[in-house]
Amino acid sequence: MAKILVTGGTGYIGSHTAVELINKGYEVVIVDNLSNSNIDVLNGIEKITGVRPAFENIDCVDYVSMDRMFEKYNDIDAIIHFAAFKAVGESVEKPLLYYRNNLVSLINLLQLMPMHKVNNIVFSSSCTVYGQPDILPVVESAPIKPAASPYGNTKQIGEEIIHDTIYANQGYQSIILRYFNPIGAHASAEIGELPNGVPNNLLPFVTQTAIGLRKQLSVFGNDYNTPDGSCIRDYIHVVDLAKAHVIAVERMLKKLTKSRIETFNLGTGIGLSVLEIIDTFEKVTGVKVPHKIVGRRDGDIEKVWADPTYANDVLGWVATESVEETLRSAWAWEQNLAQRTKPE
Ligand code: NAD
Ligand code: WQD
Repeated sequence: MAKILVTGGTGYIGSHTAVELINKGYEVVIVDNLSNSNIDVLNGIEKITGVRPAFENIDCVDYVSMDRMFEKYNDIDAIIHFAAFKAVGESVEKPLLYYRNNLVSLINLLQLMPMHKVNNIVFSSSCTVYGQPDILPVVESAPIKPAASPYGNTKQIGEEIIHDTIYANQGYQSIILRYFNPIGAHASAEIGELPNGVPNNLLPFVTQTAIGLRKQLSVFGNDYNTPDGSCIRDYIHVVDLAKAHVIAVERMLKKLTKSRIETFNLGTGIGLSVLEIIDTFEKVTGVKVPHKIVGRRDGDIEKVWADPTYANDVLGWVATESVEETLRSAWAWEQNLAQRTKPE
């Protein structure tokens, strides 16, 4: 079976993707420097799949170590490149940290691919490249708006670097996946999102507030031009997202791609507001989430949700998990985490 390099494979989306790859019989090699994840994630993957993937603690920015890694696992068939920093606010404070980490990692991989005869790469992009789209739901051909943060810019530049490199190298192909808002956790609650410090993203803040780790959730604005005034996003179950990566890899390995670079939105096609998420979470878990409305958060866009038709038609992939099930899974994961960290 094919061997897949998963950079950032102990991270949130990477770990769920590693599980889906292993479940489909792929051999997985994870490269992660644990800058935003924990080595224990490997235990979670092993518990779920019965297989412990190969793991290398390497910084993708370190060209020499990456070169050695490719030599060690000398017949990698495809790369799924998740490794990146992703905190929007931090990227504004430390832009060079983000440009170096996210772009040099990608450049190293693209440079090493031909040397090690790896032809296929899946890239983690983001709906952030669309900014506030003029037309909703947003399709892949929608204009790319000027990036609102250095983080967002690393995704835009990353896509451009891939375009230039793949078209300059005959035989290489890439699938670019633009994720909307991934939430939830594996049904086993053995792996999930592990935010560092105070969460920036909505869902971990909701679950941490529900479990009592945070006093109150701040809802950033209720004066947007939306039905209830709070922002709208397309929240997608991380396992649905992970499955799309397996399909993308299969598509490249079977040479089914129609062009050397294909770009897909990965979302549900459903827009939900912050207040709807809180309300649904409370309904499905029976747990209250203390919250208050505060001012808008700088840089937030009003509303965005995907048109996933292209991925549905071409990849034969559809997000199947309901938001209720997704929120339940996020809550089960938070509860499991609390059990693990409880003093004896
Ligand atoms: P994450 O932080 O949980 O996972 C990223 C992993 O990459 C971490 O384990 C981290 O330790 C590792 N890493 C970072 N820099 C590295 C480096 N230089 N070398 C080796 N390992 C490195 O993040 P995630 O949510 O799983 O995101 C995965 C990818 O998806 C990222 O590229 C992110 O930008 C993108 N993305 C995420 C979201 C989201 O909301 N989570 C949305 C759109 C796109
Ligand atoms: C969702 C909604 C907030 C926290 C970010 C990145 C984006 C992508 C996904 C990687 C917004 C509101 C949040 C809180 C709140 N990542 N909110 N109180 O901003 O859509 O996207 O993550 O590519 O690039 O920008 O996600 O989860 O931070 O926010 O009211 O404490 O929840 O205002 O409307 P966002 P998020």
